[in-house]
Amino acid sequence: MNKNILITGGAGFIGSHVVRLFVTKYPNYKIVNLDALTYAGNLENLKDIDQSPNYYFEKVNILDADKIESVFKKHGITDVIHLAAESHVDRSIVSPLDFVYTNIIGTVNLLNVARHLWKEDYSNHLFYHVSTDEVYGALGKEGLFTETTPYHPNSPYSASKASSDHFVRAYAETYHMQTVISNCSNNYGPFHFPEKLIPLFINNIITKKPLPVYGDGLYTRDWLFVKDHALAIDLVFHQGKVDDTYNIGGFNEWTNIDLIKLLCKLMDEKLNRAPCESEQLITYVKDRPGHDRRYAIDATKINKELGWHPTVTFEQGLAETIDWFLANQEWLNNITSGAYANYYESMYTNR
Ligand code: NAD
Ligand code: TYD
Repeated sequence: MNKNILITGGAGFIGSHVVRLFVTKYPNYKIVNLDALTYAGNLENLKDIDQSPNYYFEKVNILDADKIESVFKKHGITDVIHLAAESHVDRSIVSPLDFVYTNIIGTVNLLNVARHLWKEDYSNHLFYHVSTDEVYGALGKEGLFTETTPYHPNSPYSASKASSDHFVRAYAETYHMQTVISNCSNNYGPFHFPEKLIPLFINNIITKKPLPVYGDGLYTRDWLFVKDHALAIDLVFHQGKVDDTYNIGGFNEWTNIDLIKLLCKLMDEKLNRAPCESEQLITYVKDRPGHDRRYAIDATKINKELGWHPTVTFEQGLAETIDWFLANQEWLNNITSGAYANYYESMYTNR
C-alpha cells in the first residue's frame, strides 16, 4: 500500500537515518521530512538521497500548527513518524522552556492536526512517536527498564519527553487515534551531533582537546548503533501493535569511563598514535546536576514480538562510527566552526 509519511526531525541525527532507510527501502512511499533546521538539524546529513523522487523537504517549526496543517494537506499525509525534539539533556538544564515548547507543545500541535484531518477514519493512519528510555528515570545497580516501568523523569529533557508520551497515549484513548510509541536507549553513529558524549570525544581526540568526564565517570549508559534503531523503527511502524509501546536497546551497558578508554584505544590505533596517548586527555569535570546514574533497556518484547535484534556488535558499530568521523571531518568542521562553538565555550569554560 502506498503511504505518504511525514517524518519530523528528519534533518537531525536519528531522523536522517530513518529518512534514508524509508526513502531507499520504500520507493512507493512519499517521504516528507519536516524540520525547522535548529542548530541540530543539518540537510547535509541527507545529501546522498535528497534528489530521490519520493523525498520532499519542508522547513517548518512544529510550533506552527497552521504550517503543519498546510504540509499535511499539500502532501496528503497518511502517517507520522515523529522525531523532532530538543534532545540534549545539558541544554535542557540551561533552557527548560525550549524543551516544553518543542517537545510538548510541538507534539500536541502535530497530534491536533492529525486528529483533525484523519478523523473520518483513523484506522488507515498511524501516529508513531519516537521517545527515549530517559522517561523511566535512573536505575540502581540492578534491573532493566521494561515497558511497564513507571515513568520517573529527572531532567527537563526527560520530563518533556515523558509529557509528550502521555499526550500521545491520551490521544489514542480519548480520540481513538492509532498510535505507537518506542522508547530507545542512547544512540551513536554517523551524523551524531558533536555535543553528545561519543562524537564530542571523537572530535576532541582528533583535535587533542581535553575529554571532559562528568563526576566520577561511573555513570552507565546502554548504547545502540543508530542504524539498528532505524531498523527497529521500520519494524515497529509496519508490524508493531497499535496503541502499544516498545523498548529498544542492545543489552549493551558501559560505564562512561570504560567507554571513553575504549574509544581512546581505538582512536590511537586508527590515528597511529602511541598506546594510551589519548587517555592523557581525560579530565574529570564538575558533574551534571541531577545526573541519572544508570539506564538499561530490557528489549525482550520487541525481540520476541517483532524479531528485532541489533545487527552489529558494539565494537563493529564503534569502528564504523570512528571511520565515518575520520572520513567526514569537513562535516564536523562545518558544525564546530558555527554556532556550536559558542555553546561549547559556555558549557565547558570554568566547569
Ligand atoms: P537531534 O537533536 O539530532 O535532532 C532533532 C531534529 O529535530 C533536528 O533536525 C532539529 O532541527 C529538529 N527540530 C528541533 N526542534 C524542532 C521544531 N520546533 N520544529 C521542527 N523541527 C525541530 O535529535 P536525535 O538525537 O536525532 O533524536 C531524535 C528523536 O529521538 C528525539 O525525539 C529524541 O528524544 C529521540 N531519542 C534520541 C536518542 C539519542 O540517543 N539521541 C535516544 C532515544 C530517543
Ligand atoms: P549524553 O551523550 O549527553 O547522553 P545522555 O545524557 O542523554 O545519556 O551523555 C552520555 C553520558 O556521558 C552521560 O552520563 C553524561 C556523560 N557526559 C560526560 O561525561 N561528558 C560530556 O562532555 C558529555 C557530553 C556527557
